[in-house]
This record gives sequence, C-alpha cells and structure tokens, in this order.
Amino acid sequence: MPLSQAPLPLLEHALGEAIKKLDLDPSLAQITPTNNQRFGDYQTNAALIAAKELKSNPRDLANQLIAELDLEDYCDPPEVAGAGFINFRLKKNFLEQQVASLLHDPRLGIPLSASPRTIVIDFSSPNVAKPMHVGHIRSTILGESLLRIARFLGHRVISDNHLGDWGTQFGKVIYGLKNLPPQAELAEESPIEKLVRLYRQVTTLEREDAQLRDVVRKELLKLQQGDCENRKLWEEVVTLSWREFEKQYALLGVSFDEHLGESFYHEALQPLVQRLLLQGIAKRSQGAVVIFFPHHPTLHDKPFLIQKSDGAFLYATTDLATLEYRVTRWHPDAIWYVCGAPQQLHFEQLFESSRRLGFHLELRHIAFGSILGEDRKMMKTRSGDNIELGSLLQEAIDRAWKIIDEKNPLFSQEEKKKIAQIVGLGALKYADLMQHRMTDYVFSWEKMLAFQGNTAPYLQNAYVRSRSIFRKDESLQSFFPSTLLLDEEVERTLALQLLQFAEVIPNVLVDARPNILCLALYELATKFHRFYEECPILKAEKKVKESRLALTEITSRMLQLGLNLLGIDVPEKM
Ligand code: ARG
Repeated sequence: MPLSQAPLPLLEHALGEAIKKLDLDPSLAQITPTNNQRFGDYQTNAALIAAKELKSNPRDLANQLIAELDLEDYCDPPEVAGAGFINFRLKKNFLEQQVASLLHDPRLGIPLSASPRTIVIDFSSPNVAKPMHVGHIRSTILGESLLRIARFLGHRVISDNHLGDWGTQFGKVIYGLKNLPPQAELAEESPIEKLVRLYRQVTTLEREDAQLRDVVRKELLKLQQGDCENRKLWEEVVTLSWREFEKQYALLGVSFDEHLGESFYHEALQPLVQRLLLQGIAKRSQGAVVIFFPHHPTLHDKPFLIQKSDGAFLYATTDLATLEYRVTRWHPDAIWYVCGAPQQLHFEQLFESSRRLGFHLELRHIAFGSILGEDRKMMKTRSGDNIELGSLLQEAIDRAWKIIDEKNPLFSQEEKKKIAQIVGLGALKYADLMQHRMTDYVFSWEKMLAFQGNTAPYLQNAYVRSRSIFRKDESLQSFFPSTLLLDEEVERTLALQLLQFAEVIPNVLVDARPNILCLALYELATKFHRFYEECPILKAEKKVKESRLALTEITSRMLQLGLNLLGIDVPEKM
C-alpha cells in the first residue's frame, strides 16, 4: 500500500507545470484549500493575477491553464469560477485510496521535513524567588507545543529553560532568610510561595528604608563575590525552587533537555565584555559598556547596555553569553525564544549584536500577548497578586472534577481523578493555544471547560466518542478495508479534512502558530460528529460498515495525535 500523499503538493506541482508551458511567472503556482464546498476542495487565483499583469482576460487565461493541467489521476476536470478562479475537486476514488492508506501509516500521512534542522527552543524560563506571571505560563504551553511539533516533523530540538536564577532578587531573599522571623505558617506554604513572600516583604520594607536598601545590596554583592554563607543560601533557594517547578512541569507533561539558568553564565560575562570591547563591537560610554547600532533603521537610538558603570552585568550580557554557548555547543540552525511581547526590543538588540559577533543563524523571538482577567486587565488573583502556576493548575483540575463528577457519578474516584486532570489541564492549555499568539485574551473557566464550542473538552469528547464503538466490540478493529467508500458528502468532507493534516501541521512552524492546528482539530471534531450522527455504522451493509469503521478509527488517531502535539492528553471516557 503506497503511503498517502497530501493533495496540495500534487496539485501545485501540476499547476506549476502548466504555468511553465504558458511561460507565466512560476511563483503563481499557489493553491489554497477552500472552506466552502461550492468552490471545490482547492482553489487558485493564479490566472487572475497573471491576467492583470498581462492585461488579458482572466477567464480565458484560466481556461488555457486548465487545458494544460495534467491532473486526471487526482481531480475531476477543474472549473473556472467567478472572475477567473480555478476550482479543483479531488476525484472520489483518489480520496478513497489516499485516506485508506492512512490506516497503515503511523505518521498518518504527515511527512517528515525534507530539510531537518537543529533548533534550540528557549521557553518557560521563570525567575527563581520572584512571582511567576502568566507570561511564563503562556511561554510554557506554547513552547512545549512548538517543541513537540518540530520533533514530530523530524527536527533535532533542544529545549533549554533559561531560568532567572541570578538576579537582584537574591539580595532581598537572602536578607529575608537571614533577618525576618520564620513564621510558623510559612512551613505550610510551598517553598516558592514562601520565597515570593519574603521577596515581597523585603521590597515593602525597602521602600521606607534607604539604609535597608544598602544592606540588601551588600548581601547581593557578597553572593556575587562568592561569599560562602550567601552562596549556600542561594543554592538552597535555587534547588528548592527548581524542585517545585519540576512538579508543575511534570503535571503539565513538560520536560527540558537543559535548564541552564542565568547563573551558569556568570563566569563567562567578564571575558565576553572584554572581547566585545577588543573587537570594537562594544564601546565604553560614561563608564558603562554599550553596543551601539548607529546605522540600524530602528535601533540607531537604542543602545544595548551590557555593563553598568558600577561593573554590574545585565540580563543582556547573560543573554549574549547564552547565545554564544548554545551556538558553540549545539551548532543550531535556529534559536527560538518563546517570551512575551514586552521583551521585543531586548531581542532585537540581542539578535543584532549576535550578528555583529558573526553568528548567522535564524534567531526568532516568538512573542505573545497577555492573558486578561474578566476586567480586561492583566490577569491577577483577587488580592492583586500574580497568578501562581501551581494553584492555577490545581483549580483547573478541581473545576474539571466537578463537571466529570456531575456527568458520571458512577465512575470510580480513581477514574474521576485521572479524567479531571486530563480534561482540566487540557482545557487550560487549549484555551491558550487556540488563540492567535499575539492576541490578548480574556481568561474564562466557563468557556474553556465547556463541552461545546472550540474547547479541549469538545475535542476530547469527540475522541471518546470515536473510541466508544471499538470499546464495545474490539474485534471490529480487524475489519479495516483496503479502500474506503465515500458516497455520502459528510464522509467525503471528513476524509478530506483527515488528509489535510499533512498540509496543516508543517504550516504551524512557519509563523509559530499552533492555533492553526487547533482550528483544524476543531473542524475535524465537528465533521466527525456530523458524520457519526448522519451515517449509521454498525447497521450498514458490510462494505459500508467497514469503510465507516475505518474513517472512525483514523479520526480517533488523528485527534489523539493532534492533541498530543499540543501537549494535551485524551481520556478513554469522560
Ligand atoms: N526570565 C526571563 C523573564 O522572566 C525570561 C527569559 C527568556 N529567555 C531569554 N533567553 N531571555 O522575563
């Protein structure tokens, strides 16, 4: 059985050949899927554009193109529509064979990348002993999904959590640990919450007390100069925090190849600045060390500060050292930074500086918008604090538990717990990923946990439904035919959607947009529900029954795969 081929490249290839024969611009060989059956399955406006250029009649040109198109194997004869569009409808038996072949393909027709690359993804990257904010949550969810998709497509991906473990916050935390009375109830708290509390307390105290600010700064300086006691406290704090972060990552199904935090680069900073000065990339300016971009269109008045006049290094310095380290260690073709939009300038400056250093790889800032509360302001807790990731995850699970418990009071406690975790965390992740990443969206538990609409529970439910028929009778799985019968329009629509995942998934990486995959999954689930409601399966005559079972099977595998690529699990019942 030949592996299936995504229709789009076949069509574009044929269109390209026809365009060549007519001596038209080869870049016009572009076809897009339609979202309305009236226009066929695919459409091109190549004739329209070419005719404008040549000042000729677009419909005539479309007809000439059609005359040259060699597509009999896959398409019904293409048609000219409207002002000069060409519509393509795939041949029924082509679709039937292609979709059937997905049954024997563990990749479900999705090809490996023809040019696999080495990609470092820098994501999550929270700060130790500082409150994690929703930006870190978005980065974690988005980064994990991009990582899974890139790996699935055959790229070598290294994930590196650039932990903020070496900032000025340690002055405050160390001062707090040494001087503030350890309160009884602190023992009840998670270490992360305790550290964040200390950080906040000292910040408040400092506001009224200039002298204290000095003491705190000295603690930081002592740490940076290698003082034993402070070093030990710092180590404890970082270890404890990482242990907590790891628990949350485990719950989220996220893991990192490396978590080389800022502290890892500490020793490299002085020599790096020295080298930048020697090579003339950086300059001294009023006692500080700065990289200027005098001829850059947007950065000419935005210098990059890499060492303050008091000798302190900055976030920028560490990021440059980090970039250099990654290039030397992994020789990547690309580094992607999944980090909120407010850091746009920082990354522009970083990337420009690294080009000066002679690094010519793809550097991408994968930015994203904010999560807003019901009041449309940055999401906070009731008391105005940043959201703590651990409690957010717990709330997602608790809320899902209530829904599952109500729907299925007879499930065992164990089952309810497991399903609540899958559904609750799935809902949280999906609500984020389904948005265009630059959108600021309003966080709503009700919306994300709804069983109807574009939500994770809706997709998970479609999966459960698709499995239910086989759960009742496992032997049904042995009745898969070598070709399908797509006589009903709902069957055909579902089949086409299944084939198109091969076109959708690689597209996600073009602009780092998992929302494209979310939309395709949502459409798949909707088309599946329609098929399932309109087409009887078990009561159908043998050949039709086998074909419908096969469609159901492929749908469930595709739902599972697609959700998995988003970092979302599926329950077997819910
Ligand atoms: N820790 C930083 C923050 O919380 C994010 C780090 C992103 N990665 C990087 N290489 N700069 O803002």
